[in-house]
Amino acid sequence: MRQYSEKVIDHFKNPRNMGSIPDADGIGSVGNPVCGDMMTIYIKVRDNIITDCKFETFGCVAAIASSSMTTELIKNKTLDEALKITNKSVVSELKGLPPAKVHCSVLAEQAIKAAIDDYKSRI
Ligand code: FES
Repeated sequence: MRQYSEKVIDHFKNPRNMGSIPDADGIGSVGNPVCGDMMTIYIKVRDNIITDCKFETFGCVAAIASSSMTTELIKNKTLDEALKITNKSVVSELKGLPPAKVHCSVLAEQAIKAAIDDYKSRI
């Protein structure tokens, strides 16, 4: 695991906001067909702000750390601010990912967008 930053290891070992939100306002589920990893992000939205979010991820160390970091990044952000968070933002907050693991952070970006799309399709 030495190729991972301490931040990645921390978020993997102590994931923030893990779980589901049964009455979520938006749910985004994405998967990578190559590695088979899957990520779901749940959001609660009030007055255009993401007031709560949780994730469920079946995947590798980097996918779990990316999900955890992503929930921290989007909490209390407006929907527009959350949509601007890219996988590069996630990688940079995690102090880097090995090149072969960058696709794991892409799942996080896709899951945020899917959750917000789902929210918008309900209102
Ligand atoms: Fe595919 Fe991590 S190996 S998401």
